[in-house]
Amino acid sequence: MRATHKSLAMGLAALSLLAVSACGGEDGGTGGGGETQEVEVFTWWAEGSEKEGLDALVEVFTSQNPDFEFVNGAVAGGAGSDAKNVLASRLQTNDPPATFQAHAGAELTDYIEAGQIEGLSAMYEEKGWNELFPEGLLERLEQDGEIYSVPSNIHRANVVWANTAVLEEAGLDPKASYASLDEWIAALEKVEAAGKIPLSVATDWTQVHLLETVLLADLGAEAYSGLWDGSTDWAGEDVTAALEDYQTLMGFTNTDRQSLDWQDATQLVIDGEAAFNVMGDWAEAAFATSEKTYDTDYVAFPVPGTDGVFDFLADSFTMPVGSPNGEGTEAWLDTVASAEGQEAFNKAKGSIPANIEAETADFGPYQQTAIESWANDEIVSSVAHGAAASVSWLTDITSAVAKFGSNDDVTELQEGLVAAAEKHASS
Ligand code: GAL
Repeated sequence: MRATHKSLAMGLAALSLLAVSACGGEDGGTGGGGETQEVEVFTWWAEGSEKEGLDALVEVFTSQNPDFEFVNGAVAGGAGSDAKNVLASRLQTNDPPATFQAHAGAELTDYIEAGQIEGLSAMYEEKGWNELFPEGLLERLEQDGEIYSVPSNIHRANVVWANTAVLEEAGLDPKASYASLDEWIAALEKVEAAGKIPLSVATDWTQVHLLETVLLADLGAEAYSGLWDGSTDWAGEDVTAALEDYQTLMGFTNTDRQSLDWQDATQLVIDGEAAFNVMGDWAEAAFATSEKTYDTDYVAFPVPGTDGVFDFLADSFTMPVGSPNGEGTEAWLDTVASAEGQEAFNKAKGSIPANIEAETADFGPYQQTAIESWANDEIVSSVAHGAAASVSWLTDITSAVAKFGSNDDVTELQEGLVAAAEKHASS
């Protein structure tokens, strides 16, 4: 494929010179009359198990589209913590990649409102995609009746991952389930007494992730969802109680958390240095990459108090306004939508396919639990991963949570969260 691309490039050297001078591009990535065959895909799946997931998708893309060359525009940092800023400045300076990763829900709405992504409803119609994805998911990809992106997966956020050997050493039954946060906290105390890290966590965004699951556990699905539509009062006593539980949980975490990303925190559980980690089910891919066996080396269960609820998020891919290679973008979206692409990608990524025609019989045992839960449980939206609130609201929540990480002050945390809601809830 490289050879084909090279000879094509040489053959068109004169033309592309013209195209470059006409478009002002320097990297051969700009289009106009001389559209390049390169397709830059912007994600934050830059390393480790996340990159393996992306690689699996790219392999399908390459076999389905031999005329296009995938260019990896990934920027490292879990949950897009750095990528989103880089992307924002590229979009502002009219330098979009051919496609970029965006979360279904409120985060996508941000890009729609800024006029940065194209509507795809005609493409959905033409390709029959409306029948491929669950209706509830399509609703989170649209605004005013127009659909704006193609979902690649469905992740569950409210999952605890645990190392069975560490639990046994602490005198805990690895098959035990915890009906409430209080019961779980009693188990964390035992791990602490045994000299291991009870609960591993990493930098700011993973703390927001933990907090959202605690709010969900303590408030319940309906009141948790009400936090995002204004029907639950952020200043309420039930929120205070949840924040106190969050404070207790943070008291069991590793002190070096600020210097870690999610991979490191999950690795502490994989390596037997920590007992538990609350993480989305991209962690499943990290256990798989480390060749750990589900239900033997590790267990996974819903965050105590959230059984029966699927805290949801989905990644999706967009057609940026002014894409340097519209045909290439379309080819990438074709692969993302396809059953073949979704099977390869999700199997490696720990998530489950959004495409209802994808075959999942050979997915691993953890993923089977997620498939079951997605089909039967109540669905709520993740805030740490763009489904529940806008990027700007999440930024303010993250600042309040980061501050709490250093001052441990629940009152100030709640005031910060109330102020963030007042600023953003209606916008
Ligand atoms: C989420 C994303 C997942 C995974 C995770 C950790 O925001 O939706 O696919 O990449 O971040 O980086």
